[in-house]
Amino acid sequence: MEIKIELSKNLKAKPQDESKLGFGKLFTDHMFLMNYDEGEGWHNPRIVPYGPIELDPAAMCLHYGQEVFEGMKAYKTPNGDIQLFRPDKNMARLNSSNERLCIPEIDEEFAVKAIKKLVEVDKDWVPSREGTSLYIRPFIFAVDAMLGVHAAKHLLFVVILSPVGAYYPQGLNPVSIYVEDKYVRAVRGGTGYTKTAGNYASSLKAQQEAEKKNYSQVLWLDGVEHKYIEEVGAMNVFFVIDGEVITPSLDGATLPGITRMSSIEILRSWGIKVTERLLSIEEVAKASDEGRLDEMFGTGTAAVISPVGELRWNDKVMKINNGEIGELSQRLYDTLTGIQCGKVEDTFGWTTSINE
Ligand code: PLP
Ligand code: COI
Repeated sequence: MEIKIELSKNLKAKPQDESKLGFGKLFTDHMFLMNYDEGEGWHNPRIVPYGPIELDPAAMCLHYGQEVFEGMKAYKTPNGDIQLFRPDKNMARLNSSNERLCIPEIDEEFAVKAIKKLVEVDKDWVPSREGTSLYIRPFIFAVDAMLGVHAAKHLLFVVILSPVGAYYPQGLNPVSIYVEDKYVRAVRGGTGYTKTAGNYASSLKAQQEAEKKNYSQVLWLDGVEHKYIEEVGAMNVFFVIDGEVITPSLDGATLPGITRMSSIEILRSWGIKVTERLLSIEEVAKASDEGRLDEMFGTGTAAVISPVGELRWNDKVMKINNGEIGELSQRLYDTLTGIQCGKVEDTFGWTTSINE
C-alpha cells in the first residue's frame, strides 16, 4: 500500500526550551490515518496535517471503549540520525491487544514503515536535549455508529507524535509509590495484558487518591487475593533483594513491557541473576524490615527507568536506599538510554534508523 502525504501549510512553532517539554502536551504538524472497513480490510493509509477527527456521536469507541494503543519513542543520535527502539515489539503487542479486543490484525511491518515515514515528515520536532525524545502514540478505535454491543466493522488507525521530556516531574529522582489494596486494575482473564483505554480508566480513581496523599502512582496488587505485586500505573516493577533482581512474572493481568523485557536482557548480559516469579507485598515488606531491599525501580517507555524511593503499604512506609537512586538502577538507566539515543553501542540490534 502506498502512503499518501498531504503536507501542512500552517507549520506550528516548535518548542524553544526543551527543558520544559513535560509529557504529552504538544503535538507535531502531521498525523497518520488508515481506515478499516469490513470487506475492504485496512486501506487508505495517509499522512495529513494534525487536527481534529470527525466522529459520529454514536461511534462505538465512545460508548464501549473498543480501543487499543501503543507507546514508543524516536530518539536523535549524536550524528543527527533519528532512530526507533524495538518498534517491531510494539507492533506485535498492538496485534496482541487487537486480538483480545476483537480488532482486525494490522500488518506489523507496514505499520513500522508508516511510523518511520511520519517521523521523517515531522523530523524537525525530534528534540535533542538529554532525556528528551519524540513520543509516538499509535491507536486504533471503533467508529461504527451503533449502540448495540458488538465488535466493530469500521475502525480508524491513527498515529500522533509528541515531543517529550521526563514523564515524572522529578525526572530521575526517586518517586514515591502507594500500594493499592482496595481497587483493582485488572484480573486474569480480563484485558490487563493489553494496552486498552479501559485499563487506564479503571485506574484513575486509585491514582487520584494516591496523588492526594502525595504519591506519584499506585502499585497494583493481584485482583483476586490482593497479595501479589503486579505493576505500577505506567510501568513494570523490579526489586533488588539480597543482590538478586526479582520482577513479577507475567500473569495475564500485567502489561508485558518492552522496557521490562529489554531490562531483563541487559541485566542478564551483565551476569546478574534476574528472576521472574510471584512476589508478594509481604515478602517485599519483610525484606525491607530486614534491610535486604536494596533497590526498587520501574520500567516503561514513558517512565524509562524510574527509581522508587518510598513505598507505602497501608500504614507501613518503606524507605528504599535512603530515597536515593540505586547503583543498579543508575547503571541500567545509563545503558538503556545510551542505546536508545545512539550513545552506547547497540550490541543487541534493538535500534533502527527511520531511514532504514
Ligand atoms: N505497564 C503499564 C500499565 C504501562 O502503561 C506501561 C507503558 O507502556 C508499561 C507497563 C511499560 O511498558 P513499556 O515498557 O512497553 O512501555
Ligand atoms: C508508555 O510508557 O508508553 C505509556 O503508555 C505509559 C502511559 C503514558 C500510559
